[in-house]
Amino acid sequence: MDDMSLQIMSGEMVFLQGHSGAGKSTLLKMLALLERPTKGQIIVGGKNLNQINQHHIPYYRRQIGFISQNPKLLNHYSVFENVAMPLVIAGFERQELIKRVRAALNRVGLLHKELQKPLQLSEGEQQRVGIARAIVHKPKIVLADEPTGNLDPELSLEIFKLFAQFNQVGVTLLIASHDAGLIKHLPFRSIHIAQGKLLPSPTNIQPATKWEAQHG
Ligand SMILES: Nc1ncnc2c1ncn2[C@@H]1O[C@H](COP(=O)(O)OP(=O)(O)OP(=O)(O)O)[C@@H](O)[C@H]1O
Ligand SMILES: [Mg+2]
Repeated sequence: MDDMSLQIMSGEMVFLQGHSGAGKSTLLKMLALLERPTKGQIIVGGKNLNQINQHHIPYYRRQIGFISQNPKLLNHYSVFENVAMPLVIAGFERQELIKRVRAALNRVGLLHKELQKPLQLSEGEQQRVGIARAIVHKPKIVLADEPTGNLDPELSLEIFKLFAQFNQVGVTLLIASHDAGLIKHLPFRSIHIAQGKLLPSPTNIQPATKWEAQHG
């Protein structure tokens, strides 16, 4: 990252585009506090991430759902157990845990497969299990790194529609994606980066409110 200044409004859904090695994953990792910038600041919900020490990272992460290209599911556990994992770790009470896991699986259309093992599912379904796991703790922010990298265009569109539904209930989303052809048809802002820098583009620095005001 170099000389990068950008703002994403609470409640926005934004795509992050750029060639391989542009810095998309790096930006997402810094937002999730998986990496730290050597210089500069990142402010999330009014909180400067430089001021969050190692010890407080788990608390910070509770407001974030992270989705990667490969959901890295645990194959010996059922779909239900995979999605429940973050809640088990957070010490959720059993009834609440069951309710939340079922609600998350329902959101991604996989409630009927809760007892199956990941390897019995298609790639698109496995990706949706990863999404359910990322949203089961009701994060305010979802960071997705190439969530549709392994999927065909139809399934990719399904995933983006699912994200748009989360966005409608107030979740802020930042989605790194190569899927330029698909994204350009969607009504969301794209941030374009190359070699760790923002590319000159009107959508890069303007939050959605201004963008909508100008472009309807
Ligand atoms: N921890 C790190 N320290 C130093 N350099 C890194 C680190 N992580 C990534 N890089 C480098 O930073 C650049 C951006 O990497 P990044 O993974 O963010 O790219 P990307 O846009 O996600 O690419 P892709 O589309 O291939 O996933 C690459 O050149 C990479 O080698
Ligand atoms: Mg990447």
